[in-house]
Amino acid sequence: MLRPWEFKIIIRPSSRTPVYLQIVHAIIDEIRRGRVEPGRALPGTRELARTLDVNRKTVVQAYDELTAQGWLSTQETKGTFVSLNLPAVGPETPDDPKTKRPRRMPDVPSFRLQGREPKIPVILPMRNRVAFDDGEPDTRLLPVAALARAYRQSLISMARQNALGYGDPRGRIELRQAISTMLNVDRGLTTTADNICMTRGSQMAIFVVARVLAGRGDTVVTETLSYPPARESFISAGADVVAVGLDDHGMRVDELETICRKKRVAAVYVTPHHQFPTTVLMKVERRIRLLSLAAQFGFALVEDDYDHEYHFSHQPMLPLASADPTGRVAYIGSMSKILSPHIRLGYIAGPKALIDRVASEITMIDRQGDPVTELAVAQLIQAGDVHSHTRKVMKIYVERRDAFAKLLTKHFNSDIEFSLPDGGLAFWLRFARTVDVDAMTRAARRIGIDLLPGSHFSNSGVAIQAARLGFARMTTDEIQVATRKLKEAFRSR
Ligand SMILES: Cc1ncc(COP(=O)(O)O)c(C=O)c1O
Repeated sequence: MLRPWEFKIIIRPSSRTPVYLQIVHAIIDEIRRGRVEPGRALPGTRELARTLDVNRKTVVQAYDELTAQGWLSTQETKGTFVSLNLPAVGPETPDDPKTKRPRRMPDVPSFRLQGREPKIPVILPMRNRVAFDDGEPDTRLLPVAALARAYRQSLISMARQNALGYGDPRGRIELRQAISTMLNVDRGLTTTADNICMTRGSQMAIFVVARVLAGRGDTVVTETLSYPPARESFISAGADVVAVGLDDHGMRVDELETICRKKRVAAVYVTPHHQFPTTVLMKVERRIRLLSLAAQFGFALVEDDYDHEYHFSHQPMLPLASADPTGRVAYIGSMSKILSPHIRLGYIAGPKALIDRVASEITMIDRQGDPVTELAVAQLIQAGDVHSHTRKVMKIYVERRDAFAKLLTKHFNSDIEFSLPDGGLAFWLRFARTVDVDAMTRAARRIGIDLLPGSHFSNSGVAIQAARLGFARMTTDEIQVATRKLKEAFRSR
């Protein structure tokens, strides 16, 4: 029998780790180091409690935990022993001499990570750092009081109705109904709530739709400049992603047709309202051609309408999905640009069978989204708060857009070209051939300003003489500071 004083257990009363867990960790440590070998008897609980000057119940609790984890075994009347079949003991990491616990998790696991890592450029927001993002809203403008009220009400009413358990993977019916009505009234679709599945942001919608529409070896078409997380979602589903060119009117549909004549295309991903990243609107003839190619060659169209609400000078063109009587379009929308990317609400609209399949996929990765948020946002939509917020921010963003355009002309004059975006929250700036935009981005980073160079969006990663610059998240004063810094980076590249 091991004598209690032979154990190296130091109890730290000031530690935030409960005393029984400190005992557990210390005993595991002793076993791992081989100081107490399998089969060895441990001191009785009363004796150890006396030595450590702790309550006996604390030692009993520690022994119970160690037994449950498989480190100890108890034999009735005989006592407690170090288990003969110890849990797997991993390679030792250098210990912290004070606590005897491993200093930190290893950086590299001892198992293999399957597949390739997705190539997705991200700018992480940093305090006091200026960033031209890829077109985010200014969340300082959110109707937070109304949102907070709606959250509170949803949480309380759902708790009272015992409705905070598992629910419909398609999302709360109230929100699906509100989205369905909004799509029918504002965007010309013909949906019911059964044609809508909520997701956590439109990114999840893209990922799930990619899984459902494309399998190993299937061909999926995007544009040469496109939204990297969409491209990567199709690649991770096993698809071969093929890129076609684009011009000032959107996707080169003639190039798509050439591909369709050579191979079977499973799906085409497009952002026709504001092409991502170049911001251009796909013109009507291309839309009609795209839909007829989908019918002729039998591919699915994934229409990502990520910022439909923002159209400054004209009524928005209706989505492809509004002119699709045969159910070829999986239409994806988001609340991120109109409310906030933190409110993770996206949705898929499509034929019921697609929605039901998507819902089954969701049960594997998320189960059911965030029903309290869904109910709260449904209330905001029904009360007209989302509508009035849209009207309010639209005016502000037009001012910011115009201010940014003026500053760009003033500071860059003929060094850049751009078209004033009719909608959306970003500019696509084209630089002269001699400008190394990637080098300029690095120079900008050094002086404290971030931006997204065109190469980030390219399917081949080649240098692109352009950059996408979001303007809406900054006030006009902030835009002024950011543009001056941009000019500094341009000069110093
Ligand atoms: C083109 C495009 N699609 C989808 C998304 C995903 O947005 P969210 O998941 O926040 O709805 C974004 C985000 O910036 C985007 O730019």
